[in-house]
Amino acid sequence: MNVVVIGSGYVGLVTGCCLAEAGNNVVCVDHDVKKVNALTGGTLPFYEPELEAILDEQIQGGRLTFTTSIRHAMGKANVVFLAVGTPPNSDGSANLHNLLDCAKTLGQAIPDDCVVVVKSTVPVGTCERIRRILNNATEIGRHTQRISIASNPEFLAEGRAVQDFRDPDRIVIGADDPHAFSVLSDLYAPFNLDGNRLILMDIRSAEFAKYACNSMLAARISMINELSGLAGALSADINAICRVLKGDARIGGSYLHPGVGYGGSCLPKDLSALIDLAQTVDEPADMLRSIQKVNLDQRERLFHAIRTHFNDKLRGKTIGVWGLSFKPGTDDVRAAPSLSLISSLVQAGAIVRAYDPVAEHAAQKALGDMQVHYSPCAMDVCANADALAVMTEWEEFGHPDFKEVAHQMRGNMIFDARGLYQSETLQRYGLEHYVLGQNKFGRVKMNVAQNNQRTWKQWFARQEGGEA
Ligand code: UDX
Repeated sequence: MNVVVIGSGYVGLVTGCCLAEAGNNVVCVDHDVKKVNALTGGTLPFYEPELEAILDEQIQGGRLTFTTSIRHAMGKANVVFLAVGTPPNSDGSANLHNLLDCAKTLGQAIPDDCVVVVKSTVPVGTCERIRRILNNATEIGRHTQRISIASNPEFLAEGRAVQDFRDPDRIVIGADDPHAFSVLSDLYAPFNLDGNRLILMDIRSAEFAKYACNSMLAARISMINELSGLAGALSADINAICRVLKGDARIGGSYLHPGVGYGGSCLPKDLSALIDLAQTVDEPADMLRSIQKVNLDQRERLFHAIRTHFNDKLRGKTIGVWGLSFKPGTDDVRAAPSLSLISSLVQAGAIVRAYDPVAEHAAQKALGDMQVHYSPCAMDVCANADALAVMTEWEEFGHPDFKEVAHQMRGNMIFDARGLYQSETLQRYGLEHYVLGQNKFGRVKMNVAQNNQRTWKQWFARQEGGEA
């Protein structure tokens, strides 16, 4: 098929590359000339495992091209995806400005029988707005048939987006005409691996489904974090409790890893947008608000612990930070807990030394002129540090040389925001361990043998597979 993808951000590029890989002719559009030039030369504007190789291969194979012009791209397109960003407005609502602008331009260039697919995460009712814009566009008058429009939300987790696209848990298509269902079912046939991954529905339900999924994931994370705090206060071991929860098939094992809370471009933004949407229909959304509050409190809790450790005297203290991206496998720092922590530490007068294997540049950009010393490697962060905060569970932080860490540091406190380490291990090197959700300095009496079963590597493997 001839496919056009408007918006060459994270979602658009993964979609474009993977659809080209499946044998379609794909044109990706973006208004950013620099980005289009870089992509044409095979360079990705962000880090995502596997994607650059596909980009390169598909450009070489002639199935993938880039342009800044929607009009130029459309040609004989059978399907056009709208995959432009819908960032949050200051009130939390989704900003649809770019998306609706693209729809206006698209309306003047759309060929007959082309299905318009909205992939951006949008409030319920947006596809109807887009249909009206397309119908009103000047040249659309020449169309004799109704515009075919569909909602096809993405469920791509950063760091494993290619894998998620190639082998999706489900493919959601919301439409209201047989042509859209038929074209999209054909397009997705190579990804509908065992023939039962397509879920067809009406447009509004598909739009809502994306918000529902991300709210549910966020709810699990906030729930486990709240339970974790309670467990700590009651001298119970959250890791042991997690084993019990995960052993219950009704609860399942994913998104139950306690930590400093969720970040990234989707969960926080989609929660805010859904809360805003709830207001428009006069629904209270109490639970959604609590999920959000617990998540923010979790960050505060970590900073509070660091401040308390230094008796409220952070001025002049050197705090090392391992990990800047909101999770491993990506250079995305949007809504990353590391950035909130760094900004609180700097405001309190601390000297921050930070390291991340891929996200330094993105963090520098996001933090602007904030004084942060970026280190070339993890160990460099530890030099004369009074404390170390481990904010992202990158593989290289899983089994560091604790002897060297202890030797390099001036202080001995490790703030483990992701529950990566065993207190007993750290104690062997004279390091103290604070884990969110455990007793103040992580001295929870645990069955060491059992605890060792849950090695960090195992956890990482499960996380990569979608489980915590
Ligand atoms: C998410 C959804 O998973 C994806 O389907 C959607 O399309 C986009 O949003 P992503 O933002 O890439 O993907 O990250 P995800 O892997 O879901 O993690 C989100 C956040 O939750 C991260 O900050 C992560 O550290 C945190 N998390 C996840 C936990 O704190 N505990 C867990 O058990 C799982």
